[in-house]
Amino acid sequence: MSDEEISVYDEVGGMPFFQGIAARFYEGIRTDAVLLPLYPDGEDLDGATHRLALFLAQYWGGPHTYNEERGQPMLRARHMPYRISELERDHWLLHMLTAVSEADISDETRGKFVDYFVKAAEHLRNDQPLRLVNP
Ligand code: HEM
Repeated sequence: MSDEEISVYDEVGGMPFFQGIAARFYEGIRTDAVLLPLYPDGEDLDGATHRLALFLAQYWGGPHTYNEERGQPMLRARHMPYRISELERDHWLLHMLTAVSEADISDETRGKFVDYFVKAAEHLRNDQPLRLVNP
């Protein structure tokens, strides 16, 4: 197998890596006064952690368990119920990039995750930076 054929999923050590990233991310969410109120199950973040880990593992070349459990990701549609302005996007990124910065991976791979998350978070933004009170 040539280097090109090794997925990021395999390179970082498979599912435990993505479970670790998701767990670290939600540790941050737990104390985030902007984002925590958005989560439908309140402080029970186990389900959300599981879904995020499976989605990321699948995206980076791992098993398709996310699709089996949840169907097509359609993440923009799934995030429409939550107002995501620049504020929410940046809080989300803070926790995710903290998890990525602490991970034991090469700088090249870290760069791939940073690029992806910055773009993905902006893609899911669905509101303007500020909402006018009296438009
Ligand atoms: C930009 C700011 C974001 C906010 C405020 C946000 C917020 C949320 C909330 C409140 C949920 C529902 C929690 C649950 O599943 O119980 C959710 C679900 C989810 N989010 Fe995000 N999210 C953001 C960005 C992202 C990004 C960039 C990704 C992926 C790279 C992502 C991946 C997911 C996944 C996979 C789910 C579960 C979807 C499902 O199967 O129902 N989110 N998000």
